[in-house]
Amino acid sequence: AEGAATATLHADKPGATYDRRIFTQFAEHLGNGIYGGLWVGKGSKIPNTRGFRNDVVGALKELGVPVVRWPGGCFADEYHWREGIGANRPVKINTHWGGVTEPNAVGTHEFMDLMDQLGSEAYIAGNVGNGTPREMAEWVEYMTSPAGSLAEERAKNGHKAPWAVPYFGVGNELWGCGGNMRPEFAADETRRYATFIKAPKDTKILKIASGANVDDYKWTETMIREAADQVDGLSLHYYTIPGSWPPRASATQFDESGWAETLSEANRMDDLITKHSAIMDKYDPKKRIFLAVDEWGTWYAGDPGTNPGFLRQQNTLRDALVAAIHLNIFAKHADRVKMSAIAQMVNVLQAMILTDGAKMVKTPTYWVFDLYKPWMDATVLPIDVQSPGYGAGKWSMPAVSASAVRDKAGVAHVALANLDPNRANTVRIALDGITAATVSGKVLTAGAMNALNDFGAPDAVKPAAFDGARIDGGALVVTLPAKSVVMLDLK
Ligand code: AHR
Repeated sequence: AEGAATATLHADKPGATYDRRIFTQFAEHLGNGIYGGLWVGKGSKIPNTRGFRNDVVGALKELGVPVVRWPGGCFADEYHWREGIGANRPVKINTHWGGVTEPNAVGTHEFMDLMDQLGSEAYIAGNVGNGTPREMAEWVEYMTSPAGSLAEERAKNGHKAPWAVPYFGVGNELWGCGGNMRPEFAADETRRYATFIKAPKDTKILKIASGANVDDYKWTETMIREAADQVDGLSLHYYTIPGSWPPRASATQFDESGWAETLSEANRMDDLITKHSAIMDKYDPKKRIFLAVDEWGTWYAGDPGTNPGFLRQQNTLRDALVAAIHLNIFAKHADRVKMSAIAQMVNVLQAMILTDGAKMVKTPTYWVFDLYKPWMDATVLPIDVQSPGYGAGKWSMPAVSASAVRDKAGVAHVALANLDPNRANTVRIALDGITAATVSGKVLTAGAMNALNDFGAPDAVKPAAFDGARIDGGALVVTLPAKSVVMLDLK
């Protein structure tokens, strides 16, 4: 039998802005995230613009990617920017990710060109791990300064005008691959390094401190207490991992318990943000410092036959639901969460895009990001849902996940995900403060929980027109198919 849920959309009580930077992407020098995925080099037979593949850039442009975080991740804390500029670039070993060679073919100039091609802003992650404050300061000067010998060197290397660096990460995961620091030491290092990240006159660089892993509340407390006055944002990393660390579950071969466990783990993001935010509220009640959930998404075992250090995983309808759950949770916390970055953009973990040689597919996760585009810089409209449950025991959760916004043109958009893979759920939504005359929508679903887009069948999971919603006596009534993401526009 079908499930029945009720909800109230509080359009009369608008909330915070859903910051477009919540749709930030993360591109690390890891596996085929950069090399092969984004970059093929100027001489490649794969159509490219100055080395970046046209198909991938084109697909990402359609998403309107606001910001890209680069070059890591763990890679950032052993990256030396000088090795990625000019004509002579040393070939290094990527010690974190598979021990393969890193040609340094993509460096600062190439990354900034990618930002131009995508129309995205740069979020540069600096090296606190094995770099010096001086190296970091010089990188910032090289990128942003209008004058001086570093600016001249930049011009000599092909870019006279300074670049904008709106976001700068003060290291990454300083509790782990960024230096295995204690929070007290990391907070002091953050203060010290951040001191030397200086924006030229009339420009601004927002500094983001390396934040906690999952539920390390002591980390958040120490960082915000000791380093708040030196930074603008604090990060948080939380991956959805069915099973325990290291990730062993298959991205594609799972039963319903693997589905329920994964979605329930994704839902944990709500509790984590609530608790980290409460600590931030203690020290920063005015919410000057934003929370940047700059690594999230599913992490499974690598696909069979791939280098385990490359974190290459397929992406199914289950991942689409994970993405919708996160994007809905961020709406609830839009007053504090101003940035988030799914990991990662291409070919790594929960990717938007997978490539194989010259071929490319858009994943189910890509399509969720596409559906949520109206959320960018829209006003959050709180939505309370009373939903039947789904799952059992440890892995139980409300079956319906939701968020809603009003865009600048005044159109309200409602996103609803039905996490139950077995039965439809009908939701009756009272519309407080909206008199909608018409509703139209799209749905993302498939026959199987593990449906995916592969190179042979790239369009198996794709949004389709949706006719399961109607306005009835002033309320919005929607029948959500099992395992679906539904996106509605109210006019
Ligand atoms: O996204 C993969 C890795 O996960 C990142 O490099 C690191 O920051 C995190 O541990």
